[in-house]
Parts: sequence; C-alpha cells; structure tokens
Amino acid sequence: MDRQEIIARIQALKKEKRAIVLAHYYTLPEIQDLADYLGDSLGLSKQAAATDADIIVFCGVHFMAETAAIIAPDKKVLSPAPEAGCSLADSATAEGLRQWKEAHPNGLVVSYVNTTAAVKAQTDYCCTSSNALNVVRSLPEDCEILFGPDRNLGAWICQKTGRKMELWDGCCCVHDQITSEMVNSMLDRYPDADVLIHPESKCVNDPAILAHPRVFFYSTAGIMDHSVRVNKNRFVIATEEGALYELGKRSPQKEFIPVAQGVLCEEMKKVTLERLLETLETECGQVRVPEEIRQRALLPIERMMNL
Ligand code: 13P
Ligand code: SF4
Repeated sequence: MDRQEIIARIQALKKEKRAIVLAHYYTLPEIQDLADYLGDSLGLSKQAAATDADIIVFCGVHFMAETAAIIAPDKKVLSPAPEAGCSLADSATAEGLRQWKEAHPNGLVVSYVNTTAAVKAQTDYCCTSSNALNVVRSLPEDCEILFGPDRNLGAWICQKTGRKMELWDGCCCVHDQITSEMVNSMLDRYPDADVLIHPESKCVNDPAILAHPRVFFYSTAGIMDHSVRVNKNRFVIATEEGALYELGKRSPQKEFIPVAQGVLCEEMKKVTLERLLETLETECGQVRVPEEIRQRALLPIERMMNL
C-alpha cells in the first residue's frame, strides 16, 4: 500500500468503526493531519471526556492514552505505540510519592498530568501546563503544596504565584535542554521576535529570562494562541519541534524559528501512519487501567476539569 492508500484506508476505518483520532502537537506531521482533534494535554483530556465516538485512538505517549482511559471508561482507548513512554512520567513512582506524602502529612499533592495512573491515584489535584497556575491559585493560601513531578514547571508556578511549594525533582528530558544561554542568544539574534517558551524548560530558573519583555511562557496551546494573536512576523519557539508544523499551518505568512536544533521527543514520533492503520484494523493496543486505580485517579482529574 502506498502512503495515499494508507491515509484513505485510515479515513475509511475511522468512519466505519466510529473511531476518533486524538493527537498531540508533538506527533509526526502526517499524524497531526489525520487527527480529528489536535491539542495539548489539557485539550486532549477534554476531548476524551466529550466525545461520543466508540473508539478513541490516542496518538501520543502512554500517560496520555491512560488519562483518556481513566476519563472515558465506556470507550475503547487504543494506543498505536503502547511502549511510548515519557521521561517526566517515569521520574515519579507511586512508592516514591507515598514516602513523600508520609514526610509531609499535611501537604496537598498537585501532580502534573504527565504521571502514571498509580501516581494520579495518590494525588489531590491534577494540572496541565495550561491550567497549572489556576489550579495552584485555587488552593487555600495556608496549605502546604507538594508539586510534582516537573521541577521546572513547579519553579515557574512558585515565581508566578509567589507561593512556596515542595518540588519533586523530575524533569522532561526534552524541555530541560532549553537553557537561558539558548534563549539569550536568540533574543540577541532576532531583536524583532517574541520568544515563546514552554514552562517545562530549564530556563524558567533564570529571573532575567522570566522578566524579559519579549519572553512569554505558555503551554503548547498557549504558544499557538500567542503566535496567531500577536501581530509580529517572527517568533522563536522553545518547545518540542513538532509544534512548529501546526504553528506554520495556522500562520503561513509568519516565520517560526526553533530555539535550538534537536529539541525533539523521540517517544512522540513512535506513532506512524502504518501503526495507526494497524491499530484501526486490529483494534489491538487497548489501554486498560485497573478499576480501583481508575476510580481514584479520576478524582484529581475531575477536580482539575471542574476548575
Ligand atoms: P502540554 O501538552 O501541556 O503543553 O505539555 C507538553 C508536554 O511535554 C506534553 O508531554
Ligand atoms: Fe514526556 Fe517531555 Fe516527551 Fe512530553 S516532551 S512526552 S514531557 S518526554
């Protein structure tokens, strides 16, 4: 089968099986083109909750498909790349979190959605990079917050909200490569450009970067919105390079420059056209979460969605 035939077959199977394809902005361009909904972590969770399709084919990494399976237990959630992991989700274990909570018995746990179901099951509130500030601001002023697993996102929230939080020492191995040196060099080289940075990036720890008037921190969807809304011709993009494809589609007349070469999540690229087709044909790769864990993991996700 050639590429066009594969695409046509995928389209036909989606209709025939009442399947919806959800894809993250960091997947391959050909997968993004086939998605019924393309989004960041928060947008994808909302779509999983809202869809009336029978099958959700989740193109992203494992924790994302697992989150969809937690939210939509009556749907068949399929992952074309069940082995696709996430360095950030891997950095927090359920046992590690249990010990952390034991050391801080009065702490409220806020977990980034990039976590396993077992970690979510021990969490009070989930958040994504889109709503992390709102989630933390909604918590009582005097409560101790244990935030994990991303230390960079956590540090950024502390700066923006003025709240002190205990931070888990994890990171995304992709965004953690984005340093202040890289950002400063792009600010010098492109004096007309805004620099749009994902808050999982290492450079959040540099106060001069945070205060710079041409630097903006956003989730991936926020980066998309800023680039469309702001009347500039050029933007430096400091997030995973897959996002550049949708940025270019939304504003073909504007220039998007990656902050550095190689800011790339290999795990997100594991979903290919061939694997997507095979998943729709065979309905293999169903993501299942044990019911007891699912029910507990759903609570912090619902609290997040209700905010
Ligand atoms: P968002 O989708 O919330 O922007 O997070 C980025 C990310 O790294 C997802 O794995
Ligand atoms: Fe995980 Fe980072 Fe890849 Fe996102 S970009 S899936 S946080 S490793």
